[in-house]
Amino acid sequence: MTGKYHLAPVWSQLSGLDVVSGSGAVVTTAQGEEYLDFTSGIAVTSTGHCHPKVVEAIREQAGKFIHAQVNIYRHNLLQPLADKLGELTPPSIDTFFYSNSGAEATEGAVKLAKAATGKPHTIVFQGSFHGRTAQTMAMTTAKTGYKAGYAPFPAGIFVAPFPDPATTGDDPETAAKRALAQFDQVLAGQTPPSDTAAIVMELVQGEGGYLPALPEFVSGVYERAKKHGILFVADEVQTGFGRTGKMFAVEHYGIDPDVIVMAKGIASGFPFSAVGSSYELMSRWPVGSHGGTYGGNPIGAAAALATIDVLTSEGFLENVQERGRQLMAGLQELKAQYSVIGDVRGLGIMIGSTIVDPSTGAPDGDRVNRILAHGREHGKLLLLNAGTYNNVIRWMPPLIVNESQIAQALAAFEAAIKATM
Ligand SMILES: Cc1ncc(COP(=O)(O)O)c(C=O)c1O
Repeated sequence: MTGKYHLAPVWSQLSGLDVVSGSGAVVTTAQGEEYLDFTSGIAVTSTGHCHPKVVEAIREQAGKFIHAQVNIYRHNLLQPLADKLGELTPPSIDTFFYSNSGAEATEGAVKLAKAATGKPHTIVFQGSFHGRTAQTMAMTTAKTGYKAGYAPFPAGIFVAPFPDPATTGDDPETAAKRALAQFDQVLAGQTPPSDTAAIVMELVQGEGGYLPALPEFVSGVYERAKKHGILFVADEVQTGFGRTGKMFAVEHYGIDPDVIVMAKGIASGFPFSAVGSSYELMSRWPVGSHGGTYGGNPIGAAAALATIDVLTSEGFLENVQERGRQLMAGLQELKAQYSVIGDVRGLGIMIGSTIVDPSTGAPDGDRVNRILAHGREHGKLLLLNAGTYNNVIRWMPPLIVNESQIAQALAAFEAAIKATM
């Protein structure tokens, strides 16, 4: 669509489509064409586009309160939402701070960790993505493209390796062991525990390439966090709210993080995010030293409550797990047939399939672009890439996706691979 003025060219553009509506897993263009949206607005539309219950909750709330500023008074959905989040999150999490985006919440979590521990440093992992504000950009190492030209960054951020056995060719046990030894080196050589407030980890790396953390690695890092009095912060912005087949990815790893960061799927697309922690930790955050005009927005809270109702309805997560298994099995079958598919990995319906040069195993981002374009043009399928080398196709359909839509997407993907051979 063109007009008299411009949209900022800084937004990268995947499809060039002009869309006018969305329903479930499908979006409709201005020309009336329908596309299967397996991007979910970058893993956001957990209940699908415009789930009727979410739409109804937003409509109803819009007539009562559009903005009820949290420092001025407390609207009637703040506490019910905290109570719901408390039921869904691990046992140590019982207190919630609300904000608007994933980056804002992640940055808030780091401020909380610094305030609560009195320590200055943060450890993140190679391949991480935590956002685009100055602090979270500094914590992001998935791609230099997110950072080039913006230095200097806030200081006090240290990067530890994140094991990726498919790339290094190690078995998972060796990869985890090596990464833990390197983690110890970071503590011994770069930032001592006495200066380290927080370890911030995505349990399945998102922008970094839909790469799940190895369980032995997570346990080892978690043990070290406990031993040294460093807060373990789970960035569940992309993994949370059912995406991995459990409400939160920490459940796959049996850990109880000190802080959990939530956004994206929490409110089906209404901008809303949250930081959860214990009351004891949150009480060390000086009153007034953090906040924001819009955090805890009543329409966002209504959308979150309605989203949670849908996600916790009977059989919902079972469908996510079943569709995840279907998608994983379909992708594994294609990997056996097409040598350009390198690794297929993931949890629930957060699955990454890498595309490589079959003769060298090198990442092949160009072929990914051709596959995505073919899928769009011929399969009416929207898919997005990820990874440091842009060679990962990330599978993140809405959690309400059905069996035939998964089958349709796999068929479009296979046709796209064939067309690029
Ligand atoms: C793990 C993770 N953390 C933080 C963010 C930043 O979220 P937002 O784009 O809402 O600021 C993202 C966004 O992709 C993410 O995937």
